[in-house]
Amino acid sequence: MRNLIDKLYENNSLSRDELLYLLDNLTEDDQSYLHMKANDARQQHYSNKVYMRGLIEFTNYCKNDCTYCGIRSKNKNVQRYRLDKEQILQCCQVGYQLGYRTYVLQGGEDPYYTDDRMVDIIKTIKERYPECAVTISVGEKSRESYQRFYEAGADRYLLRHETNTRSLYESLHPRMDYDNRINCLNTLKDIGYQVGAGFMVGLPGQVNEDFVNDLMFLKELKPHMIGIGPFIPQKDTPLANEESGTLEMTCILLSIIRLLLPDVLLPATTALGSIDPKGREKGLKAGGNVVMPNLSPTDVRELYALYDGKICTGDEAAHCRKCIERRINSAGFEVDMARGDHVTYQ
Ligand code: 5AD
Ligand code: FES
Repeated sequence: MRNLIDKLYENNSLSRDELLYLLDNLTEDDQSYLHMKANDARQQHYSNKVYMRGLIEFTNYCKNDCTYCGIRSKNKNVQRYRLDKEQILQCCQVGYQLGYRTYVLQGGEDPYYTDDRMVDIIKTIKERYPECAVTISVGEKSRESYQRFYEAGADRYLLRHETNTRSLYESLHPRMDYDNRINCLNTLKDIGYQVGAGFMVGLPGQVNEDFVNDLMFLKELKPHMIGIGPFIPQKDTPLANEESGTLEMTCILLSIIRLLLPDVLLPATTALGSIDPKGREKGLKAGGNVVMPNLSPTDVRELYALYDGKICTGDEAAHCRKCIERRINSAGFEVDMARGDHVTYQ
């Protein structure tokens, strides 16, 4: 097993069979070794720095019905909200004063935010904060829309592929098309964005073969960022009674991703922090090098309830800024408030 991990560390690749063998047979000792090698790779590329992104969850309206997600359109138990341009800018201002130089605008697929409205918001943020990076995460759009956002100044785009197993993808996403999602990711890369893909860990029915699909897909796509986190059930969804993904499996996959794509930007996600009080710290130690604290106004945070038990819903941005720094330091790393572009964009 150690030979296999060494091979992954040296070559940044393994075959499909080798990856499956690794996932099927990893002992606790091997896991520590894997995390150590992943941490080693991350130190070589990013030293002990952890980049901070300010997350603004600006709408919880969504036209989709993903079966895992608490803001799916069929959920009538969630109070819906939208932040207007001024409220979004207010979040940026709070973030700027706290030192953030990257804003992530994330929302459901909400038709209220037409391309014109998005372009106006992006342009205004970039005019006001020209040195800051703007990341957009509003789901599947046409090439034309992605192009317009890019020309307005958006630097990065997050669109998790969610799972690269077609049958699983289709069972989780009624009326959505797997091929379209993959096409969107390719289009985003083609336009010139720094692109984030990613998947959930521990979806009902998901097995190691599925993770191998995700890993092989990511190795080929070579996104600049990869967001992975445990699936966590949400009480108003069809998956309410399913089990969460585990901290252990998520950390194993984080480490393998770090070794497959050693210079990728890899967040220790909020979902990971939500299933374990030390989840984000453990994610960083497993090879993560990004955290995305929340900048959304406190009164709407609880409403962006993708899953139950989400952390930080009652905390002010300033509180999270300090809290996360303490956590990063306690894990042996240092906060870096710079834009934190991917190495190929620096
Ligand atoms: N558990 C964990 N992650 C979830 N997401 C959505 N719903 C859940 C859930 N129940 C993730 C998806 C999406 C990202 C914004 O949040 O991967 O892309
Ligand atoms: Fe929000 Fe700790 S990061 S309270």
